[in-house]
Amino acid sequence: MIEVQNLTKRYNNFLAVDNMSFTAKTGEIVGLLGPNGAGKTTTMRMLTGFMPPSEGIAKIAGFDVTEDSMEVRKRVGYLPERVPIYPDMTVKGYITFWAKLRGIRNPNQRVQHVLETVNLSDRRNTLVRNLSKGMRQRLGLAQALVHEPEVVILDEPTIGIDPQQVIEVRESVRQLGKKHTVLFSTHILSEAEQVCDRVIIINKGHIVAQGAPATLRKQIQKGDHLYAQVGGANAATAGKLLSAIPGIEGISPQGAGFTIRVKAGKDVRGEVAQKVVEGGYQLLELRPVAMTLEEMFLDVVGKE
Ligand SMILES: Nc1ncnc2c1ncn2[C@@H]1O[C@H](COP(=O)(O)OP(=O)(O)O)[C@@H](O)[C@H]1O
Ligand SMILES: [Mg+2]
Repeated sequence: MIEVQNLTKRYNNFLAVDNMSFTAKTGEIVGLLGPNGAGKTTTMRMLTGFMPPSEGIAKIAGFDVTEDSMEVRKRVGYLPERVPIYPDMTVKGYITFWAKLRGIRNPNQRVQHVLETVNLSDRRNTLVRNLSKGMRQRLGLAQALVHEPEVVILDEPTIGIDPQQVIEVRESVRQLGKKHTVLFSTHILSEAEQVCDRVIIINKGHIVAQGAPATLRKQIQKGDHLYAQVGGANAATAGKLLSAIPGIEGISPQGAGFTIRVKAGKDVRGEVAQKVVEGGYQLLELRPVAMTLEEMFLDVVGKE
């Protein structure tokens, strides 16, 4: 269980995490989704006891990250953004080293088990330097899991690895969700949607939306998009002309034309055509566009 209440972090005067509140229940996979600089890593570092919050409360399995940071560290497994890895150790040696750091006395069995969990047991004698990036990432996962923590926090575990291995890491994360509480960060909406039970979208340090992927999708997707190209007017003039139409919620330049965001259930095509012609311009193109998940995400984040 992760409980976060009004969590805030300032770096000097810069507000990196701004009054965030959320929970992740036991057995739940929660995704922290946001673009670069949104505050994902900062949030995770506070939750793992690596950095104190400026304000607010965070608890892991009931223990406060500031007051009981030792208890928190026992119960949390953390895969940081950049995994510190010792290239000259073997896979088994590296995990055994971590198991000992974690205070596990006879770690052999535990090490073997965790290497099986991340599908690296056939590489146990391989030097870390000879592992692929994806395997290293799974080794990082094994390191985070070796002490059987209740809560697992994974900071962008699929970044920089090839597509096949991305699939494997995602599958490992989904498996973890069966036994652990998992907080998982990503900047890829489709990944959050595939892996998580619940997604929290953050931008500039605060939560912009949260919910189950399907709900969130509906919430984000409300409204339609059109693409229009207007001849004889510059971008500013055409933008002004179109934004006056009721039901149009936003206009952004795209290629030679505009993407027009339309309120759900409204069909503005007739009015768009009319306005353009009345203004003395030419309507060169007007068509509905299907939004990709990424675009929907940017749409929500971009409103900030
Ligand atoms: N140690 C630091 N000192 C000052 N600013 C920082 C520090 N770490 C992160 N930041 C800033 O805080 C914001 C959030 O960063 P971060 O938590 O790393 O975001 P994310 O992981 O979502 O990319 C960014 O604007 C970043 O530049
Ligand atoms: Mg980060």
